[in-house]
Amino acid sequence: MNFNLSEEHVMIQQAARDFAQNELLPEVIERDTHQTFPAAQVKKMGEMGFLGMMVDPKYGGAGMDSISYVLAMEEIAKVDASAAVVMSVNNSLVCAGLEKYCNEDQKMKYLVPLASGEVIGAFALSEPEAGSDATSQKTTAVDMGDHYLLNGTKNWITNGGTASYYIVIAQTDPEKKHKGINAFIVERGWEGFEIGPKEDKLGIRGSDTHSLLFTDVKVPKENRIGDDGFGFNFAMGVLNGGRIGIASQALGIASGAYELALKYAKERKAFGTEIINHQAIAFKLADMATQITAARMLCLKAASEKDQGKDISESGAMAKLYSSQVAMDTTIEAVQIHGGYGYVKEYHVERMMRDAKITQIYEGTSEIQKIVISRSIAKK
Ligand code: CAA
Ligand code: FAD
Repeated sequence: MNFNLSEEHVMIQQAARDFAQNELLPEVIERDTHQTFPAAQVKKMGEMGFLGMMVDPKYGGAGMDSISYVLAMEEIAKVDASAAVVMSVNNSLVCAGLEKYCNEDQKMKYLVPLASGEVIGAFALSEPEAGSDATSQKTTAVDMGDHYLLNGTKNWITNGGTASYYIVIAQTDPEKKHKGINAFIVERGWEGFEIGPKEDKLGIRGSDTHSLLFTDVKVPKENRIGDDGFGFNFAMGVLNGGRIGIASQALGIASGAYELALKYAKERKAFGTEIINHQAIAFKLADMATQITAARMLCLKAASEKDQGKDISESGAMAKLYSSQVAMDTTIEAVQIHGGYGYVKEYHVERMMRDAKITQIYEGTSEIQKIVISRSIAKK
């Protein structure tokens, strides 16, 4: 693995950093307070190529590598983890899935507007009774000849209220268990497709999380992704890459909180000296810096392996498991370093602590990452 970033990588990182500071930072506290989706900012992210970063330019993408994606995600998440999850879902669950597994007609119709940021997408696997246990899909897609009839409920769907296109996973043949599951592209506005109320969340409050309700929705056959029964393998394949996105989001939350804590520790005085001169505070910062560096290495390793076309189920899961733990630990300590000021919104770190928690839950909980990793190492 080459640890040196190319000139292009540094440029992308700087562009994401400038965008985050200039466009995301100014109203991030208000968006968190009022649960406002960063619509104008997401539009600009699309214009900058951040919503289809790794997609081939012939499908409207920016044609960058996964290293660039990690670098940009970290910078965006440092400032606004809600904007970062919109970016992660659109890039690594929606666009990556469509580019890798869809046919040319599907790509021209759906991938082009999604990768260019004209519209955004959502990925709907989880259900009220099927989260970690994702093969237990209750949503059904009955084969009616020229179309499927979709019925059921999806839960916790990121970009649920703002997406134009949704990748929906559903059971077609329960007897075949996960081999009877299919993935479909569903358009917003189709008859029988209803969007539930917005969830009122602990963190990533600027992101838009909804349940989706399907009642006899007619999905044309040409909107199925891949062969009949490919849906579960599709979802797992997509999630392997998605976990790099969420790992990078977690990394960004951690490094954002660390940077604020370091700055504060150098300025705040107690007992006649800057608090960084108290070893208890300095050691917390030393732990944070070490763990963040290790998390960044895991994210870049997984990204590098993805770019080399390797199996990233293990490295993506490791990156997510570790980075999300670092995000949680770092943000808790960042609040501690800020003392009472850390407990109020103005200083940002309390929001980062709330935002960090979700990275241990979505795209596979930490317990599920350990299942993925342990199964992989057991096979060796
Ligand atoms: N990569 C590729 N294929 C995989 C895989 C992986 N990481 N994990 C499982 N599979 C394949 C298996 O090979 C098997 O396929 P075959 O039969 O063709 O060989 C099939 O999937 C079933 O595998 P298992 O028998 O191992 O299935 P299981 O029921 O034991 O569960 C699991 C596997 C790993 C726990 C899986 O259910 C899982 O990942 N659960 C977590 C779900 C999840 O991550 N949801 C995230 C929703 S999206 C989201 O959250 C977005 C957001 O927040 C922003
Ligand atoms: P459960 O699966 O019920 O798990 C409960 C607890 O049991 C967890 O601690 C879990 O780790 C543990 N557990 C379960 N099984 C095992 C086991 N075998 N061994 C050990 N421990 C186990 N989903 C989507 O499809 N698309 C999205 O865009 C999306 N966005 C989300 C956004 C937010 C804000 C949230 C909160 C969730 C989102 N999700 C999304 C859903 C998310 O992926 C699930 O919440 C997650 O996979 C966990 O499922 P669950 O909530 O049903 O918990």
